[in-house]
Amino acid sequence: MLHLRQNPNPEKLLGVSISLKERGFWSYNKYLKRMKFNSMIRWVYFFLCTLFIGYSLVLYQASGTPDSVDYDVKKAASGHLVWQKYNCQACHQLYGLGGYLGPDLTNVYSVKTKGPDYIRALIRSGSKQMPGFQLTEGEMNELLEFLKSTDESGVADPREFKTTASGMIQANEKH
Ligand code: HEC
Repeated sequence: MLHLRQNPNPEKLLGVSISLKERGFWSYNKYLKRMKFNSMIRWVYFFLCTLFIGYSLVLYQASGTPDSVDYDVKKAASGHLVWQKYNCQACHQLYGLGGYLGPDLTNVYSVKTKGPDYIRALIRSGSKQMPGFQLTEGEMNELLEFLKSTDESGVADPREFKTTASGMIQANEKH
């Protein structure tokens, strides 16, 4: 380092350029231009990296965090187990998947004429084709929280399904 600083010939600092010059590959000027261009590229690269990191941070800040949901996540998870324990999926769909004897229940929680009280009563008493289920009060609350979570996180299949006389499933558009 010391002997470089003392070197009276600044060209010697660019050892490579001199050897290239001597070999006649590039003129020294061309080489310097190239070096300038390289340092510009380095700044562009630095600028793009900064932009990328900055943009990532903005996106990270802006994206919704899981605790911004409107339902009790733990309770909804227990409700999912209740849903599985009583095999509701055998007759009902969630997000369009499941059995076809009963209707899709993804959004049943937010239907104005239905909602939690209606669901509670229907599960207890059953109906024409649905058996009644005697859930404990705790299980019922968890199940309702689960149906609240499906309602918030997805939409039901817009079609309605009916079983034909031959046992086939037929889809109709809801009107
Ligand atoms: C044996 C099949 C079957 C099972 C199992 C079943 N259901 Fe049903 N469910 C039905 C049918 C069929 C209907 C439609 C009501 C009718 O026509 O009698 C229905 C209707 C409903 C409705 C009312 C939907 C609406 O839009 O009016 C809710 C809520 C419901 N079921 C919840 C449940 C839950 C929760 C479970 C599990 C604990 C469950 N069901 C298990 C067959 C079933």
